[in-house]
Amino acid sequence: MAKGKATVFFCKECGYESSKWMGQCPGCREWNVFVEEPIVKKKSGMSNGKQEFVKPVKLNDINIEETTRLKTGLRELDRVLGGGIVAGSLILVGGDPGIGKSTLLLQVCKNVASQDKKVLYISGEESLKQIKLRAERLGSFSDNLLLLCDTNLESVEDNVRKEMPDMVVIDSIQTMYREDVGSAPGSVSQVRESTAAFMELAKGLGISIFIVGHVTKDGMVAGPRVLEHMVDTVLYFEGDKHASYRLLRGVKNRFGSTNEIGVFEMKQDGLSEVSNPSEFMLQGRLEDASGSITVCLIEGTRPLLVEVQALVSKTNFGMPRRTSNGTDYNRVNLLLAGIKVTEPSLDLGIVLALISSKKDKAIDPRTIAFGEVGLSGEIRAVSQTQQRIAEAAKLGFKKCIAPEVSTTGIEIPDGIEVIKVRTIADAVKYI
Ligand code: TYD
Ligand code: MG
Repeated sequence: MAKGKATVFFCKECGYESSKWMGQCPGCREWNVFVEEPIVKKKSGMSNGKQEFVKPVKLNDINIEETTRLKTGLRELDRVLGGGIVAGSLILVGGDPGIGKSTLLLQVCKNVASQDKKVLYISGEESLKQIKLRAERLGSFSDNLLLLCDTNLESVEDNVRKEMPDMVVIDSIQTMYREDVGSAPGSVSQVRESTAAFMELAKGLGISIFIVGHVTKDGMVAGPRVLEHMVDTVLYFEGDKHASYRLLRGVKNRFGSTNEIGVFEMKQDGLSEVSNPSEFMLQGRLEDASGSITVCLIEGTRPLLVEVQALVSKTNFGMPRRTSNGTDYNRVNLLLAGIKVTEPSLDLGIVLALISSKKDKAIDPRTIAFGEVGLSGEIRAVSQTQQRIAEAAKLGFKKCIAPEVSTTGIEIPDGIEVIKVRTIADAVKYI
């Protein structure tokens, strides 16, 4: 019954609010994600009775000043942001712990500070010494970069107002807390209150603020999805911790297109840009191995060439086993059974790689293929054929196997031959 203190339940994944505990979140359908938190008392800001309300203005009276975007010094990041950092924007960078968020943002700080801008890096996770150690690996820094180790929201706000930097990094939002909220740092209420405070700072003072948010599966800590709707831009830093490449994916952007990706490689001296990811992904290919073909996928607006490998061998078991890695297992199963599946452009590559492996006949390594495969073995159209072919030509591919239907009216760049196919049987003749 009533325990004196009012509480509310939040989903720590998506922030869904409920007055009672539930096993499954109705918002994001995750299980076991509800946490109990005290109700936050709203600050009563209108108590003096002299509150000034804003009035509507004419659309035509609004001046858009040519705002120059601040360059981060990392072209991959600039592109994902839509051409650089917009003044007064709030940007969330989410990702698993250890993926390189702090490293990326410290590098951004370094580059921005070297452009004569004042930068404030606020860490609630690492000590000044730890940050210094990381910075040593990244090179030399200008005096425009200030560090602050603090987790108290009020004191952080105070420092930002005093220093008036051009850019602020909060690493991470889950460590920030306001004393009067009553729940632990990292809880849904704390994370939301802090984000709202930073939004106010960003908009009010025109400071660009980066917020780091850890993706966590366990514990009471709220995930970055809880804040997605509050910020201007949401970027996710992804990748395999054991592999060196990292993808930076834009999933929300009020100042640019979403679904752009930036590719980085984690090196001894920080993250370096991979401006030509296709080349990077195709490194180390064998020239005359069977069961391998390059395909062209589109990620956002950018074509990406990747290699598909297949191995077909005799089974010693009664039941043949199929397995796949890096793509949807069920999709491969369906392709083998001859059924149409979604996410189309990879289909033709998978089928050709399988046939090549089965016949033990190598496909010319300078061939790429893309196309959707239909139920009866017909090759169907895919989008953005022009960009795919252009990317392949740029990387020195000589042959491109493409659906006939999507190659009409397409400009073919020099040095590449486009083979228009209608069925799998057509395509097999050319490999
Ligand atoms: P970090 O930025 O601390 O991750 P996050 O802030 O997302 O938790 O990245 C830590 C990892 O990156 C760590 O495993 C060490 C590695 N690293 C490098 O490989 N090279 C470098 O120059 C730096 C600074 C870190
Ligand atoms: Mg970190």
